Amino acid sequence: MQAVEIAKDTYWVGVVDYNHHDFHGYSKSPEGTTYNAYVIKDQKNVLIDTVAPGHGKTLLCRLAHILPVEKIDYIVVNHVEQDHAGCLDQIIAACKPEKIFCSTMALKSMAGYFGEQMKSWPVQAVQSGDSISIGNHTLVFQETRMLHWPDSMVTYCPETKILFSQDAFGQNISSSWRFADEHEKGDLFQRVKEYYFNIVLPYSPQVLKTLPVVESLDIDMIAPDHGLIWRGGMCKEIVDMYRTMAEQKPRKKAVVIYDTMWSSTEKLAYGVCSGLEESGVPCTILSVSKNHHSAIMTALADASALAVGSPTHNNTVLPYVMSALTYIKGLRPKILVGGAFGSYGWSGESPKILQEFLSGMKCEMPADPVKVQWRPGHEDMQKAYALGKQMAGCLLEKCGQ
Ligand code: FEO
Repeated sequence: MQAVEIAKDTYWVGVVDYNHHDFHGYSKSPEGTTYNAYVIKDQKNVLIDTVAPGHGKTLLCRLAHILPVEKIDYIVVNHVEQDHAGCLDQIIAACKPEKIFCSTMALKSMAGYFGEQMKSWPVQAVQSGDSISIGNHTLVFQETRMLHWPDSMVTYCPETKILFSQDAFGQNISSSWRFADEHEKGDLFQRVKEYYFNIVLPYSPQVLKTLPVVESLDIDMIAPDHGLIWRGGMCKEIVDMYRTMAEQKPRKKAVVIYDTMWSSTEKLAYGVCSGLEESGVPCTILSVSKNHHSAIMTALADASALAVGSPTHNNTVLPYVMSALTYIKGLRPKILVGGAFGSYGWSGESPKILQEFLSGMKCEMPADPVKVQWRPGHEDMQKAYALGKQMAGCLLEKCGQ
């Protein structure tokens, strides 16, 4: 349980949690994440962020390998969400810091979580541009409101050129490694995508506002609160990737999601997919009952078209379909083109419901929904194929092709 020195006198003292699976509906596969916390040793010793509830002792043990815990003078709270501040009371009780720095907005959320006990804490609110000297190091604070909570801020150390970026630039990876360049690159960036599209996506306008601030800094290392630390040339790679993900320019790819009762809607899904593929738009099909909605969001990272299918069940769509759509809508992906389809026995409401839902998400719907009674025959499959083709035509136009 050693700390890891990531730069001279700067240490990682976080926790690797191999069992954490679900973050408020974002389900990771494989399981696990990292709650990163950092210490800078100087005339004033500083702890930057803490860890999730239940892991405070591990943090304190790791910390004790560097210095007695009561030698921590300052705690910086970049973000109050409980995976980083859930054991703050335990850490404060052990370290008895002289000061705790956080954003103005964090005062409210901290009070909400810790109530009366917070009144005795030596908390000092800081704003963008405020800085403190701790000896040979300076800490400069930059608020990043709604990236992804109102309280969020980042802390920059100009002497070591490290940006402590809280949730931003993180990934849910649990491993023995601390640096991004030690992990297999394809998997690393897939995890970045998964994390961004399941957590950060709705705050993309704030990302685009913050990136120039990050780029104006001389950075050798980006140390997030989850996963691996970016160093050297990888700092630019992750910043560039964030810009791409935030901009969500048209992507020439489609996702088809569906649920099915007796395989009729599933058959239509494959028909829609063929229409897309044979028009030059690569397509992924995901059953909502066999794939977690987090996986669907990750698939949408590369796609700008979405077709949704559900049979009619009790005059509406099947529950897993609506569950996935509710999750997707909340994360606000830029889906430029939509399509709806579904089978039915006697009432047939679902394709219209799906069409209206996707319209409400501001998707362009180039075709009427495909509605098929009982089992799809040849003509019905042609309708599904035509839906895919119309969606592809519309998407290719938006992609400038
Ligand atoms: Fe990792 Fe917003 O907490």
